[in-house]
Amino acid sequence: MKQVGVARSHESARAHVTGSAKYVDDLWPSLTGTVHLWPVTVPHAHAKILGLDSERALSSKGVLTVLTGADVPGINDVGPTRRDEPLFPSEVCFHGQAVAWVVAETEAEARSAAALVVVNVEPLPAILSIREALSAQSFHTATERIASGDVEAALARAELRLDGQLEINGQEHFYLETQAALAVLDESEGVFVHSSTQHPAETQEIVARVLGVPRHAVVVQCLRMGGAFGGKEVQANAWAALAALAAKKLRRPARVRLTRQQDLRLTGKRHPFLARFRVGFTRGGKLQALDIELFSDGGWCLDLSAPVLFRAMFHVDNCYAIEHLRVSGQVCRTHNVSHTAFRGFGGPQGMLVIEEVLDRVARTLQVPPHLLREGNFYRRGDCAHYGQEIRDADRIGRIWSELKASSQFGARWREIERYNAENRHDKRGLAITPVKFGISFTTAFFNQAGALVMLYRDGSVQVNHGGTEMGQGLHTKIAQIAADALGVTFDAIRIMPTRTDKVPNTSASAASASTDLNGAAVVSACNTLQRRLAAIAALHFQTAAENIQFDAGHVYPAGQPARAVAFAEIVDRAYLARVPLFSSGYYRTPNLHFDRAKGKGKPFHYYAYGAAVCEVGVSGFTGQYALRRVDILHDVGDSLSPLIDRGQVEGGFIQGVGWLTTEELVWSSDGALLTSGASTYKLPTLGECPPELRVALLARAAEPGVVFGSKAVGEPPLMLAISVREALRAAVAAFGPSGHVVELATPATPEAVFWAIEAARQKQGELRQSSAAQ
Ligand code: MTE
Ligand code: HPA
Ligand code: MOS
Repeated sequence: MKQVGVARSHESARAHVTGSAKYVDDLWPSLTGTVHLWPVTVPHAHAKILGLDSERALSSKGVLTVLTGADVPGINDVGPTRRDEPLFPSEVCFHGQAVAWVVAETEAEARSAAALVVVNVEPLPAILSIREALSAQSFHTATERIASGDVEAALARAELRLDGQLEINGQEHFYLETQAALAVLDESEGVFVHSSTQHPAETQEIVARVLGVPRHAVVVQCLRMGGAFGGKEVQANAWAALAALAAKKLRRPARVRLTRQQDLRLTGKRHPFLARFRVGFTRGGKLQALDIELFSDGGWCLDLSAPVLFRAMFHVDNCYAIEHLRVSGQVCRTHNVSHTAFRGFGGPQGMLVIEEVLDRVARTLQVPPHLLREGNFYRRGDCAHYGQEIRDADRIGRIWSELKASSQFGARWREIERYNAENRHDKRGLAITPVKFGISFTTAFFNQAGALVMLYRDGSVQVNHGGTEMGQGLHTKIAQIAADALGVTFDAIRIMPTRTDKVPNTSASAASASTDLNGAAVVSACNTLQRRLAAIAALHFQTAAENIQFDAGHVYPAGQPARAVAFAEIVDRAYLARVPLFSSGYYRTPNLHFDRAKGKGKPFHYYAYGAAVCEVGVSGFTGQYALRRVDILHDVGDSLSPLIDRGQVEGGFIQGVGWLTTEELVWSSDGALLTSGASTYKLPTLGECPPELRVALLARAAEPGVVFGSKAVGEPPLMLAISVREALRAAVAAFGPSGHVVELATPATPEAVFWAIEAARQKQGELRQSSAAQ
C-alpha cells in the first residue's frame, strides 16, 4: 500500500498530547552540573553604555561568571546577513536589550544576581516608529524597485484615481516553546548544541564564529521545536552562541531558556509596514496603474528584513494583472526589537495592500468587491511585474468558481443584503479573497537540500535530512515519501533528529519549501538504494532489474506478487554481496533566477493558490463581531498527507485571523513592550474560531516538477485570513452610504471596527443633512 496521500496524524501527535515529546529544555535535568544563564537588560530604547560593574553579582551565591564581550574568543556578532548584531553590545539599541549574561549554579541564583549588575548608561534619543524613521531618514537599506510598464504615464491618463495609505501591524510569533539552547563540551573540545532552531547549519556557523573555531568543532542538533513560525529562522542563533560560550568557559553543560516575558521583549516580530499607494482605474473597474511605496520597520539590526521586504514587493500583485505596476521598498532602522521572518515572510503585508486598494476602488465605483476582484484576475500567458509567467493562472479562476459554488456565495450575498437593509444596529459582511503565493527561497542558493539514508540488515531504515520539525508535519511527510520511494512500510522508516554532522550546509526550514527540497533529496537517496537492491533482487528472481517491484516491504517480479520475498531479505542479501546500504541524496530547484538591478526574473518554482469566503456579524453598538462561517478551498497539489495539510490550512488561517483582528502589540512612548504576556496580547482561541470552518483541498491538482506532485502548504493559508478583514469592511460599509470608502485600522479589533462604523455613520449623517438642505 502506498503511504503518500494517506491521511496520517503527526508522527509525534501522541507524544505531543501526552507530554512525552522532548524539547531542548527537557534535556538538561539528566546532565550533571548544568549551569544557567540570565540576561542583564537595560531599560532604555537607545543608550550608550559607559560601564558595567559586576562585582556584587560575582560575589553573590552560586554565581560562576558574568559573560561580557571580553569573554568572546571569536567575533562578537551574531548577524546572519550583515555584521550589525553584537552579542554583547556597547550601545543599547532597543528597550530591554541584554548587555551581559550572568551564569550561576541555578536559574534562581542567576536571576537574582542579574539584578545586582550595575550598567551605567547615557540615554540617547530613540527612533520608535516608521514615521519617525522617515523624518530622520533612518534606513537599513537603499530603496529597491520592481516595475513593469510606465506607471506615471498610465496614472496621468487613467479615468479615475485614488490615493491612500495603510499602516500594517506587526505580530508576535508566540510559539509555545520559547527560545532555548543547551550546550555541552564534547570529548575533543568541540561543542554539541541542542537548539530550538529552524536552521541548524546557520546556528552552527554562528556558534563557530563567536567561539572562533572551525565549523567542524560545532555540532548542532534540533530534535523538534514547539513551534517557530519564522521566529527561529535566524533568531535562535544568539542563545546557542551564549550557551556555547558559557559551556566552553566553565567546562560544564550550559543552558539558556528565555521566559515568556523575556522572549516577548528580546525577540523580533512580524514587520510592521507603512504603504502608500496611488491607483488608476477605469469606470468599468479595470486596474490600469498602481504605484506602491513600502516601508518596513526593520528594528535595530538588519536580520532578514531585506528578503522579507522583497517578498512583500513580489506579492503586491496577488492574483491581479495590472499592466503598469511599480513597487518600491525600503527597510527603516529604528530602536525596536529586530523584526524577522514570520509565516508569509512579507507576503501577507504585500497582499494586504492590494486587497485594501481593491476594496477601496470597489466602494468608490459602487460595485461588489468580488466582481472587481475577478474582473482583474491574471489570465494564462500574463506575467507578474517581476517578469515571471503565471503559467497556471487558470487555477485562480477555477478555485474561485468552485469555492463560490460550494459556499453558496451568491445566495448568501443576497440574503445578507436583505439582512442589512432590515437591521439598523447589526450588520453582516461577506467577502471572498484569493491567494497566490510564490514558492522558493528568494535567496536562490537556499533552494538546495541533502539527505543521508541508511538501511540496516533487518530492513529498517534511518532517514537523515536537513529539515527541522516545528509541528508542521515535515517528518511525517518525509517518512511517507521515504516509505514509498523505497517500497517499505511506514513503520520501517525512522526519521532521525536533525543534526549538522549528518547533512552539512543545509538551509533553514522555511519558505514553506522544506518538503519540496528535503523530500526530493530523500527520494534521490532512496532511488540510489533501490537501484542497488533491484540488481540483487534481479539475481534472486532470475529476471531483469527493471522488472523488480518494491511494495510495502515486499519485493517481487512485476505481476508475480505471490513470489514476494521480504524487503529485509533482499537488504541482507545485498549486504552479503558487499553492496553499500547507505546513500546520500541531493536536490536543487531548477531554473531559478532573478536580476535584482533589473527587477526581473523567475524567483519562484511555482505558486500555491487558495481562496476563502468569510461571513461576519458586527454590532454597531460596540464594534464587537464574530466570524459566522468560513469556507476555504486551498491548493496543495496532490496532497502528501491530507490531515497534515488540513492542519496547516486551518492553523495558518487562524494565525492570520489573529494577526488581522485580535493581536495588537502596544509599546510605551519610551519603547517598552506593554503587551508582554498572554493576558494583554490577545491570541486567537477557540472562541474566535468560526463555528463553521469548512476546509477543502483542491482536487485533481498535481504539480509537475515537485515531489509526488505536491505543493508547499506551510505559509500560504495565513493570507486566506484577509477575507476576514474584507468581510469586516463589508459589514462596516453597510453602516454608511453607498460609495463610502472604509478605512479600517490593523488589527481590526472591536475598537477599530467601532471607530470605522462611527466614520461610516457620520458620512451617512452628512449626506442626509446635505440632501435635507437642498
Ligand atoms: N506549523 C506549525 N505547526 N508550527 C510552525 O512553527 N511554521 C510555519 C509553517 N507551519 C510552522 C508551521 C512557517 S513560517 C513555515 S515557513 C513552514 O511551516 C516551514 O515548514 P515547511 O517548509 O515544512 O512547510
Ligand atoms: N522565505 C523564508 N526565508 C527566507 C527567504 C524566503 O523567501 N529568503 C531568505 N530566507
Ligand atoms: Mo517561515 S516565515 O519562512 O519560517
